[in-house]
Amino acid sequence: MKNINPTTTEAWKELESHFSEIESEHMRDMFKKDKNRAEKFSIRWEDFYIDYSKNRITEDTRNLLLKLAEECRLEEAINSYFSGEAINQTENRPVLHTALRADKNAEIKVRGENVLPEVEEVKAKIRDFSFEVISGARKGYTGKAFTDVVNIGIGGSDLGPNMVTESLKFYKNHLNLHFISNVDGDHVHETIKDLNPETTLFLIVSKTFTTMETLSNATTVREWFLKSVPEEEVSKHFVAVSTNLEKVASFGIDRNNIFPMWDWVGGRFSLWSAVGLSISLAIGFDNFSALLDGARKMDEHFKNTSFDKNLPVQLALLSIWYNNFFKAESEAVIPYSQYLDKFPSYLQQAIMESNGKSVDRNGKWVDYQTGTIIWGEPGTNSQHAFFQLIHQGTKLIPADFIGFKRSLFQDKSHHDKLMANYFAQTEALMNGKNEEEVEEELKFKNFRQEEIDRIKPFKVFEGNNPTNTILIDKLNPESMGKLIALYEHKIFVQGVIWNIFSYDQWGVELGKQLASKILAEFETHDVDNHDSSTSNLLKYYME
Ligand code: F6P
Repeated sequence: MKNINPTTTEAWKELESHFSEIESEHMRDMFKKDKNRAEKFSIRWEDFYIDYSKNRITEDTRNLLLKLAEECRLEEAINSYFSGEAINQTENRPVLHTALRADKNAEIKVRGENVLPEVEEVKAKIRDFSFEVISGARKGYTGKAFTDVVNIGIGGSDLGPNMVTESLKFYKNHLNLHFISNVDGDHVHETIKDLNPETTLFLIVSKTFTTMETLSNATTVREWFLKSVPEEEVSKHFVAVSTNLEKVASFGIDRNNIFPMWDWVGGRFSLWSAVGLSISLAIGFDNFSALLDGARKMDEHFKNTSFDKNLPVQLALLSIWYNNFFKAESEAVIPYSQYLDKFPSYLQQAIMESNGKSVDRNGKWVDYQTGTIIWGEPGTNSQHAFFQLIHQGTKLIPADFIGFKRSLFQDKSHHDKLMANYFAQTEALMNGKNEEEVEEELKFKNFRQEEIDRIKPFKVFEGNNPTNTILIDKLNPESMGKLIALYEHKIFVQGVIWNIFSYDQWGVELGKQLASKILAEFETHDVDNHDSSTSNLLKYYME
C-alpha cells in the first residue's frame, strides 16, 4: 500500500480552505437552495437506502473528499486488501476476513496457497456440528440433548458473536445462549450457577488461546464441570475455536472438537469464521450462511462501485470531514431497533481498536487526528438519555441513524411510533429551532412577552447537526451481514486515508503485561516498585 501523508495532498489543502468557506453555513439553507439535495446525496443499493444529505457538505465537499481518496490511492489499497497482500505490515499478515465470505470458487492466496478450500472445510464442520447440536443428535454425557451453549471468549471472540446472536434473536431456535467474557469471577459464577452440566455445551473461543480472561474462565468452568462429571466426558461438552491448536490440545480439548481459524483473520473481524460458531448454533447454519452472503454482497459493492456511489467510502469520507476539519471528537451510532442494542459496543472495538493509532505507516507521529470515538444506544431510549447534549450541547456529534422499514413482529402501531421518532430526530438535529420559531410558538401558547424574552434563549436549538440515515428494509441475517461489512470497510478506508496500520493492536498489550506483574505481586506482597499512587492502592487492596 502506498505511504501517503493525507495532509500533504492537494485535496487536503483545498479541503482546508473549502472548510473555512462553508463552516458556518446552515444545512437548512442548503436544503432551501437546492430542491434536489436529497437525491444528490443519497444512495440506494439493494435493500439499503442511505441518505447523507443532512450533512454539512456541498457538491464541492464531496468532490474534494473523493479527490482525497484518489490521491491517497484508495483504489490500489482496496485491491491489496482483497487480494491477500500482507497489509497488516506490523504483524506481516494479510487481512482476509473477506475470504471467509467469498464465493467458494474464488481463489485467494495466502503465502502461495489458495485458502478457500480450507475455509470451506471449516464451514462444513460448523454446518454439521450445528445441525447435530440443534437437532439433538449430538448429546451430552448422560444422553440428553443440549439445551444451553456458553461462549467463553473476550474482545473479538465475544463481542461479534454476542452482538449478532442478540441482533438476530428473532431467528433463534430453542438453544439458550450465554456469553462469559469478563475475568470478573462474578460474571462466570453468575452465568453457570443455574446451568445443568448434563445439557450444556461450552465453546472456548480464543484466537491466540493465551488470553488471561478466557483461559481463567475456561479453567473455572472446567473445574465446575468436573465436580459432577468424570474427566473422560469433557470431550462431549467442550469445544474450542483457535489458531493455536497445540495450546488447545494441552488444555485437554479433544482434537476433533477444535475449529481452526487463521492468523489472517483479525480478532475483531472474526465473527465470520468459526468464532461465529455460537451464531450458527443459535440461528442455524442456513441463517449463518445468509449473514455471510450479506457481507459478501457488501464486499462486492465496495470493491466494484465507483467511489461517489460507494456506501463504505462515502461514510468514511464524511467521518474524516468531521474528524479532521470540524475537529469533531466523537461519533454516535443510534440504531432504532432494540435488537441492535449491542451494535454500538461491538463497533467500539472494531473502530477504536483498529484506528486508535498515533503513528503513521512510516513509524512517525501523526500531526492530524485519527480514530474517532464511537458510542451510542438504541433509539428511542437514547432520546431520553443523551440526546439533549447532541441537540443543545457545545459539541458537534455526527450520528448514524440506523432503522428498518418493517418490524419483525409487524406491530405497525409501535413501528410507526418508533420510526416517527427516527425521522423526527434527524430533522430536528438538522433544522434546529430559531428565535422567531420559538417566539411564535410561545405566543401561540399565550405566553406574555416578558416571559417569552426570558425563556427564549433556552428554547433555541442551533441545529446544523449532521446525520446519516441508514434505512434498511428489514432486519434479517443478510441485511445484518451487509451492515457489519459496511462498517468494516469504512474502518479500512479511514485507515488508508489516515495512513495508519488498522489491523494491529499493540496498545492493549501494556496493560496486559502490567496486570500479570501485579498479579504476581499479590503473592509476594512486594509492591514498592510502583509510583506512590499505585503502591498505596495495592497496599490498601491487600489489607
Ligand atoms: O483486546 C486485545 C485482543 O487481542 C483483541 O484484539 C482480541 O479480539 C481479544 O484480545 C481476544 O483475543 P483472543 O481471541 O486471542 O483471546
